[in-house]
Parts: sequence; structure tokens; C-alpha cells
Amino acid sequence: MKATAIAPANIAFIKYWGKKDEALRLPLNSSISMNLSNAYTTTTAEFSKAFPQDTINVASDTSFTTFTHVLKNSELRIIAHLDRMRKLKGTDMRARVVTKNSFPAGAGIASSASGFAALTVAAAAALDLSVSEKELSILARLGSGSACRSIPDGFVMWEEGNSSETSYAHSLYPPGHWDLRDIVAVVQSKPKEVGSTSGMEAARTSPFLEARLAAIPGRIARVKKALEQKDIHALGNVIEEDCLDMHAVMQSQKPPLNYLTDETREIINAVRRWRSGGLAVCFTIDAGPNVHLICEGKDEQVISKKASEISGVQQIIVNKPARGARIVTEHLF
Ligand code: PMV
Repeated sequence: MKATAIAPANIAFIKYWGKKDEALRLPLNSSISMNLSNAYTTTTAEFSKAFPQDTINVASDTSFTTFTHVLKNSELRIIAHLDRMRKLKGTDMRARVVTKNSFPAGAGIASSASGFAALTVAAAAALDLSVSEKELSILARLGSGSACRSIPDGFVMWEEGNSSETSYAHSLYPPGHWDLRDIVAVVQSKPKEVGSTSGMEAARTSPFLEARLAAIPGRIARVKKALEQKDIHALGNVIEEDCLDMHAVMQSQKPPLNYLTDETREIINAVRRWRSGGLAVCFTIDAGPNVHLICEGKDEQVISKKASEISGVQQIIVNKPARGARIVTEHLF
């Protein structure tokens, strides 16, 4: 009763910020994302009658172990998720879980997305549950909203739905559809102080939330069309528009939430300069200071080089579109 899964992080082109049902993690709006080839979580889950309790081992960089409040909170969420999976199977067997990220956790690269997607797929296989991709996406969503988008392949749409059964993600295009890149310029690799779960609880206190929600259906249509036509300029326009709108909501919440640092703003300005110089690149930023640079494969080298030359950029992670969560045969223990 042991299985291992790999799941990608994903970068949202249209963001998810705010829920209409906190417990079920039903979002206020649909969102669209791309799975990332080089930012992923590997998780092994084993269930046994012999285990007296659940043990969770997050094999991340040792420098993160000082942030115990972050680890403790994520441990509780993992155990709550194991309880969900056990309930489906009708068992009370305890589990051993070891999980490992290929990137720094909690820094605006969605570690909760890849983490809960990998945990869902590994635990479902270890418990021998027969579940469809849609059911896995729904289960992953209950662990962490954006995790539902890391289950299907490639370019993914999360339909907001109006119930647990209708709120799930599906693939719009396989990874090979368009040779895009997400070049992550990492400016900070320690966990953020306010996580997205608690941060978005206050989304409704922003006077800008309603305006953003009203604009979402039009933006979803524009992203779908840009993906269909592989139009990087059209895609870039709508991605940046929605990213800046989400951060305007965050910054006008009560209490306000600012994830952007001086380094973030420096990269935003650099992207605008590169674009005036003729490079097709845009930026997007999640709940952290790191900047995701979206471009086509042909511009990867030049943009990676330019990004790495900006002072304050500690690391560059180059991602291609990737498959969704999957089972692998090599275990972590
Ligand atoms: O589901 P969470 O808690 O990982 O929320 C993710 C929220 C953003 O990353 C800011 C936006 C998004 O859609 O990924």
C-alpha cells in the first residue's frame, strides 16, 4: 500500500484569488494555468495497520526548518487531506508520507499546488482507489485550490463550478501544443509570512474585487483565443492585466497584503524595457515576490541571460509546459 507521484507546480495566466466557499475551496472565479516542467513535487505515501500515527517528512532545504509555523500548518493540512482519502477508502490506517520539492517552498512558486496534487495521486494509488482524473482534481482542490490545476496535462482550465462536484480542472491543450516558457526569476526563497489561504480570506474587503470578477469572463475568452492562435502578444497583454489586478485587490484588502518587493518592481520595469526593444515577453507574479517571465521557446536564452544579470535575482528556473500529476515507480523511502 505504497505509491509515489510527481506533480508539477502551475503558473496561472488568469489567477484565483478569493473563495465563495472556504471549506470546499470553491473559487470566486474560473482560472487558467500552465503546468511547469522544472518545478515539481515528488511524494511517496504508504498506508499500514502497523503505523501508530501519521508521519510527514517534508524533505525541503534545511534552511526552511526554522519556519516551524509554516511547516506545522502544512502538516495539519496534509493530515486533514489523508483523512479525506481514508474516508473514501473506509479505512483508518495511518500513513507515512515523504515529500520533496524541486524548488524553494512557499515563495510564490505554487508549492501547495504541486504538493497537494502529488499527495492526492500518491495516496489514491496507495489506497487503490479507483478515481477518474476529474475526481482526483476535485480531491486535490479540497487540499489546496490551485492543486486541482496540477492534475490534468499541459494548459489547464479550472471551472469555478457551484458545488464540489462541478469545481474541477481539465486540460485545454497538451504540453506540446505551444512551446512556451515560464522563466522564474527567484528573488527570495524563504517562505512568505502570509500564505495564500489566509491571505485570500480577506479578498472581499477590497473595493476592487467586484471589478476584477466582472472582467474575468472576458479575460478567460482572451486567454483561450491567444492559446488557440498561439499569439504571444495577446496572451502577454491579458496575463499582465489580470496579474496586476489581482495584486491591486491584495494591496487594497483590509489588512493590505503586499507581496511585491523592490526586486520585483525592478524586474517588471526591465520586462517593459525589453518589450519596447522588441522582445515578446511578459511577467506574472503569484503570492510572493518572484517573477515569472512568459515567452516563447525561441527567446528562452536571451531572456534567461538578461534576467540572471539583474542584481537581486538569486536563481533562474526555466520551465516548459508539462504533463500533469502522474505515478512513478521510484519511491522516496
Ligand atoms: O491554492 P493556493 O492557496 O495555492 O492559491 C494560489 C493563489 C495564487 O497563486 C496567488 C493564484 C493562482 O491562481 O495560482
